[in-house]
Amino acid sequence: MATQQKSFSSNLGAIMAAVGSAVGLGNIWRFPYICGQYGGGAFLIVYLCFVFLLGAVLMMSEFVIGRRSQHRTLQAYGVVAKGKKGWNVIGVLGLITCFFILSQYLVLSGWTTSYIWDAVDGTLASLGTDAGAISDHFSSFSVSTWRPVLCLSIFAVLVLVVVLGGVQSGIESVSKLLMPLLVLLVLVLCVRSLTLPNAGRGVEYLFMPDFSRLTGQGILAALGQALFSLSVGMGAMIVYGSYIPVKDNLFSTAMWITACDTLIAVLSGLAIFPAVFSCGFDPTGGPGLVFCVLPNVFNMMGGAGVVFAAIFFILLMVAALTSAISLLETLAASCSERFNWKRLNSSMALFVLTTAAGVVFSLSLGRLSHIKIADLTLFDLVDKLNSIYLPPLTALATIIFLGWVVPDADVRDELSNHGTIKIGYYPVFRFLVRFVVPVALTVVLITGIKG
Ligand code: PFF
Repeated sequence: MATQQKSFSSNLGAIMAAVGSAVGLGNIWRFPYICGQYGGGAFLIVYLCFVFLLGAVLMMSEFVIGRRSQHRTLQAYGVVAKGKKGWNVIGVLGLITCFFILSQYLVLSGWTTSYIWDAVDGTLASLGTDAGAISDHFSSFSVSTWRPVLCLSIFAVLVLVVVLGGVQSGIESVSKLLMPLLVLLVLVLCVRSLTLPNAGRGVEYLFMPDFSRLTGQGILAALGQALFSLSVGMGAMIVYGSYIPVKDNLFSTAMWITACDTLIAVLSGLAIFPAVFSCGFDPTGGPGLVFCVLPNVFNMMGGAGVVFAAIFFILLMVAALTSAISLLETLAASCSERFNWKRLNSSMALFVLTTAAGVVFSLSLGRLSHIKIADLTLFDLVDKLNSIYLPPLTALATIIFLGWVVPDADVRDELSNHGTIKIGYYPVFRFLVRFVVPVALTVVLITGIKG
């Protein structure tokens, strides 16, 4: 195994790795469908406000905790709290969130892996443009036993291999390779989608705000999506923050990551909506947009559609891979540090545990669908935990911790690299951390719980 550096090699490396974590299924699968459900352009405006005002602030906060402490999620809070007892409990909450997110993420990533196969071996093309057949294919696949489990396991092994490679030679190198590839793939798809007949209607849908379709539910979804998309509220950015070189500017690093993540989400919308409109489909198709509607869109493109289908699902898998890597790294590095386990053992143990949980969640859609808790299948239960309860709760605890527990002087010192760079934005940041973000997250949590 490679020697373990405990930091990224450069600011570019740190940005690439964190963009790799942020850009994932959330950008390419989730953002377009919720944007479609809640009013296209109107949703986009609200989302942009949340991403920069709340998401980026949370990311900076996690970076401060990670880099200041030079520790991973399970111990970072305690170190930054300087001996005040009990704060590590937020780290535990973060890791629980991370565990459940990764287990569910593996299921969806497994589907993506399987769809690459279906695109390449002609299965998707053979379904033609029969919407019913395409949906049936997805439904019967997702509830089946072996194939989703096999694909999930293959994907999880890929994630493990990169994490075992270490911070610089594994995570950083893979991110530097895959992120440019991802941008290239999404651009190819955008060009194809934007040059289809009637593509303009899709662009209009994405950018012309129609506030009548933006409900309160949509505003909450925008906030939840902003957190998920920037990978905050799960302790992941604490671990990556602890790897950021000491001379890097945390503010500009967080802004770059936020801007890149948002750009990829918008480009994904541009790759999807014009094509969906051009083929006459419903943009409000929900979670099935990618697995049920898009295959139909590709099949309508004729012969070249197979190639675009393969490109799309490879893009989705690449995005999912770098995100899943950050989740496994967060779990493995935190446990390795806390319990003094070798990195190899820690990574293997968490790989086994999260894959096993992923298998159970996958089977709970079919063979184990009779097992219910509070009337929900295990998959629906974990989905609810991951979207409504855990990330906002961890994020709320983190922001209260930074705003009200960590001494102001320490936060300033860390953001200004010990007084060597200017932080004119600080009063605004402080206000957002102490008041705006906690209030927004409390509203989200209460509304979600009342649900
Ligand atoms: N940001 C990822 C996405 O948009 O798909 C999801 C994610 C990755 C969340 C890593 C949390 C995390 F720690």
